[in-house]
Amino acid sequence: MKPIVISLGGSIISKETLELEFIQKFSRMLKNTEKFDKFGIVVGGGRLARTYISSLKEYNINDNVLDEIGINATRMNALTVSTFLEGVNSKIPTTVNDASELVAVYRHVVMGGTEPGHTTDTVATLLAERIGARTLINATSVDGVYSDDPKKVKNARKFDHLSYDEAIKLAVDKSIGAGPNVFMDITALNIAKRSKLKVCVIDGTNMEEYEKVMEGKSISGTVIE
Ligand code: UTP
Repeated sequence: MKPIVISLGGSIISKETLELEFIQKFSRMLKNTEKFDKFGIVVGGGRLARTYISSLKEYNINDNVLDEIGINATRMNALTVSTFLEGVNSKIPTTVNDASELVAVYRHVVMGGTEPGHTTDTVATLLAERIGARTLINATSVDGVYSDDPKKVKNARKFDHLSYDEAIKLAVDKSIGAGPNVFMDITALNIAKRSKLKVCVIDGTNMEEYEKVMEGKSISGTVIE
């Protein structure tokens, strides 16, 4: 079995409070999937990152510094998640290189961000490429990719399936003038395209969706391939 990489969106871990119940549920789900191979888990910054970044932005702090602060938030969340898993690294690697070496040692490898200028979605696709994963689960707070933001547009349409180019076009259109909440960052989609990585965008709080991806069943979310 090939390893699977999960990009665990910060928005499902760090809301107004830390979502410890979710992390426990996630940990139990991984424990029940022992017949599957290794998991690389890349954790986002969520509310923790956004609180710092949006406050500091008002003081015109350099974007590179804001990214570094965001990276530190992702690593705090990554360490929190790793604390609840078994067979996992307890020191958070700071590069994809270091993470890929840990894959030989642990069943699960958990990490956060790496360098300024991208998001943990890109880190997840790079890790997937590096460790030979064929599937990336993008666990988000929405249950798939929509034509418009379903929280704002009533008749937004959910896609079952998108080609890489359709997903890239949608992400470009959505990122014009929008906040950070595009379903996946464009660099990540381009990396997925070049290595023909299957991307499953799912509701990250729905454990059945992870299990369906692992078992090769059809999902309620969106498949990009
Ligand atoms: P996230 O990966 O959580 O960003 O990293 P996001 O996708 O915008 O947020 P969610 O997951 O939808 O809530 C948080 C921030 O940390 C910096 C970026 O500023 C990013 O917005 N970051 C993260 C980096 O600069 N490099 C990284 O490798 C990761």
